[in-house]
Amino acid sequence: APSMVGRDFLTLKQFSSSEIHQLLWTAMDLKTRIKINRELFQPLKGKSMAMIFQKRSTRTRLSTETGFALLGGHPVFLSPQDIHLGVNESIKDSARVLSRMCDLIFARVYGQDILDDLAAESDKPVISGLSDLYHPLQILADFITLQEKFGRLKGLKVAWVGDGNNITHSLMMGCPKMGMDLRIATPVGYETDKAVMEDAIELANEHGTSITTSNDPMEVAHKADVIVTDTWVSMGQEDEKQERIQEFQGYQIDRNMVSAMADNWVFLHCLPRKPEEVTDDVFYDEKHSLVWQEAENRKWSVMAVMLHLIKDHACQTNRPNF
Ligand code: CP
Ligand code: NVA
Repeated sequence: APSMVGRDFLTLKQFSSSEIHQLLWTAMDLKTRIKINRELFQPLKGKSMAMIFQKRSTRTRLSTETGFALLGGHPVFLSPQDIHLGVNESIKDSARVLSRMCDLIFARVYGQDILDDLAAESDKPVISGLSDLYHPLQILADFITLQEKFGRLKGLKVAWVGDGNNITHSLMMGCPKMGMDLRIATPVGYETDKAVMEDAIELANEHGTSITTSNDPMEVAHKADVIVTDTWVSMGQEDEKQERIQEFQGYQIDRNMVSAMADNWVFLHCLPRKPEEVTDDVFYDEKHSLVWQEAENRKWSVMAVMLHLIKDHACQTNRPNF
């Protein structure tokens, strides 16, 4: 397996198909060994990690903080009230200090450029816990969840219905590399980032998959295996709430929309969820909605990333079919 030691994890763009497969395999290996076999596995004993959060979080903080500790390491959570970063001290200076005291820097930020700056000034790996542009850790969890459900990723047809946001962008970087087709429906004016789309089309061509866009949710849902959405109002967009709710009329995922999908359709949502983007009967559907499994898989996937950036890992379980 290729070594990822010392790398930053800022977007899936920088990771090859085989590296992503390795991260997914390791996540599933850790899940089996630690959760099912109750193995004590602490390869990160003596390691520490700074966790910088400029925005709220439930899943990202919990999965990362408990996951790093489970692997034997010591995570330190730093809210904006706890750290000088960007307020009383430049990002450059903070990054230099953090990288002298910690083995990893984890950060949830507004601009992707803050992650780039942290990475440029730190000689320890930096992991993105979400920016306005990307949320790569979420997509690893989504892929594990789909592998567990379908026994493969290759050939799955994914429909995105909603805002063209950080989650969409990370799906666009990841799906082609996993051999998955992606169809994106957004309201006019809420399309994905142009530069990200150019990269995604290039990736789709390279991997022989398709990526298409539409303003019609029913069109993208047609015969899809997976339907994914997210909040219509991301963190930092609170002022646009009323306007967005108006513009997104017709984008709520409901029974009628999923009836156009393949018979064994599944629903994903990174959470937190608001009722306007998906009806209760779809969101809480015991058979088709995988949202709780998806949330749990945030933990195993971030553990795989943190581990691989610090040390190589040889899986003991069989390689899943991707
Ligand atoms: N999905 C996700 O990143 O959730 P949090 O904002 O709760 O971390
Ligand atoms: N798009 C959402 C994802 C939250 C996990 C946001 O950025 O707020």
